Amino acid sequence: MAAARDVPVVIVSNRGPLSFTLDAAGRPVPAGSAGGLAGSLHGLVAGTGAWWVACAMSDADRAAGEAGLMAEDGLHIATVSPERAVYDLAYDTVSNAALWFVHHHLYDLARRPRFDRGWRTAWDAYRAFNQLMADQVCRVASDGAVVLVQDYHLALVPAMIRSARPELAVVHFSHTPFADPGVLRVLPEASSAELLSGMAAAVACGFHTRRWADAFVAGCVDHGIDPPSTFASPLAPDAGRLAERAASPASQRAAERIEEMVGSRRMILRVDRMELSKNLVRGFWAYDDLLRHHPEHQGSVVFVALAYASRQSLPEYLAYRAEVEQTASLLNERWATGSWKPIVLDVADDADRSFAALTRADVLLVNPVRDGLNLVAKEGPLVNRRDGVLVLSREAGAADELAGAALVVNPFDVAATADALHQALVMAPEQRAERAADLRRLVLARPPRRWLDDQLAAAGR
Ligand code: G6P
Repeated sequence: MAAARDVPVVIVSNRGPLSFTLDAAGRPVPAGSAGGLAGSLHGLVAGTGAWWVACAMSDADRAAGEAGLMAEDGLHIATVSPERAVYDLAYDTVSNAALWFVHHHLYDLARRPRFDRGWRTAWDAYRAFNQLMADQVCRVASDGAVVLVQDYHLALVPAMIRSARPELAVVHFSHTPFADPGVLRVLPEASSAELLSGMAAAVACGFHTRRWADAFVAGCVDHGIDPPSTFASPLAPDAGRLAERAASPASQRAAERIEEMVGSRRMILRVDRMELSKNLVRGFWAYDDLLRHHPEHQGSVVFVALAYASRQSLPEYLAYRAEVEQTASLLNERWATGSWKPIVLDVADDADRSFAALTRADVLLVNPVRDGLNLVAKEGPLVNRRDGVLVLSREAGAADELAGAALVVNPFDVAATADALHQALVMAPEQRAERAADLRRLVLARPPRRWLDDQLAAAGR
C-alpha cells in the first residue's frame, strides 16, 4: 500500500470520492464532484495511493463498481454494498433523521423524536452497516496503517476495528457539531452509550472546533465513559483548485447568466444544501424585515438563494423544501414590481453556477442554526471579486476563525440579521475592501493539508 505521507492511510466515509447516476440506457455515468466532506478530502488524498473505503450508495454506484468504474489513478477505492433495506435504515432513519437532528439540535421536542420499537431494528441496521465498513477496512489496511473514520454515519467503526485489528491507529473525525449532553439524552440510553463508546475506542476524536470536542467529552462524562483524547482541526478549502474552478469556461458562462439576472443591482447570496440546519426560512424573513425597514433597498437588491436538493427520501426535508419555496413565493408576491423579482430561489445542483455566484456576491449570508464548520463561508471570500461582506452565524464552526472579519449574527435573531444585511449593503468601499482582505488572510492562514496532518499526528504517526 502506498502512503498519504510516510504512513499507509485508509479513509472511511459513507459518501465516497466518486458517485454515479444512470443514463437513459441504464449505464452508470459520473455524477459530478461530490460536495461536503467527500469533495474536500478527495483533493487532499488524490494521487497519494491511500485507500478509501466508502458505501456504494445507489444502484448507479453499485453498477459502476461492477463495471470497474470505481477507480482512480493514485487512489484505491473499496466500496461496500449493504442490502438496500439495511442501508435505508442506517442512512435515513438513524444517521440522517436521528443523529443529524441530535447533533444539530433540530428536534421540535414537543413532537419529535418518538423512538418506537422500529428504532431498535433501525439501530441494529446501523450497527450492521458500521460492521460492514469496519470489515472492509480490516481487509484492506496494511500493518501499521492509520484509519481515518469520517462522520456520524460511522460512529461505531472505531470500536469494531479496535477489537479486530488492535494494532491499527484509528482516528474518528466529525464534520458536524456534536450534541450538547442534554440533547444527546434524547436518544435511547443504549444507543447513545454505544455511539459514545464506539467513538471513544479511537486513539483520538477530531472536530472542527473545540466547542464540539468539548460537547463530545461532556457526553462521555455524562455516560460514565472515559473520553479519548480530542482535537480541533478545521478544514480549509484549496485556494488553487477554487481559482481554477472559478476561471473555468463553464463558470464564466454561468457568470454571464447571473449577470443577466442581477444586472446592476446589489446581490445578497446564499449557497447551501436544502437543509434544515441551514436556516433558509429565517434568512428570507430577515430579508423581508430589511425591505420593510430600509425601503431604500427595494428594487436595488436581489437575494439569490441557491439551495440544491438533499436527502429527498426524508419527509422532514421535503416539508422543509416546501416551506422554503412557499416563503420565497410569499415574499416575492409581497415585494415584487413589474421590473424587480426580489428573491431568486434556484434548487438545481449546479456547482458552476454556485462558484460564479460566489464571485459576484456583494453580501454572502451564511446563517445556519448550528453547523460543524460551513465551507461556503471560507470558499466565498477566496473567489469573490467584489469585496463581498460575509454575514455569518455565530453557531457555524467557521465563526471561530472568521469572526474578526465577518458580521457575526445570532441565527435566531431575524431583526439582527436584517440589521447586519443592511450594514453590509451600506458599508463604505474602503471598509469592505479591508474586511474582504482580512477574510482572505484568515482563510488562507490554514493550509488545507494541516487538517490531514492533524489527524495523522493525533494517530501518533
Ligand atoms: C454533511 C455531512 C457529510 C455529508 C454531506 C452531504 O456535510 O457532514 O458527511 O456527506 O453533508 O450529505 P449526504 O447525506 O448527501 O452525504
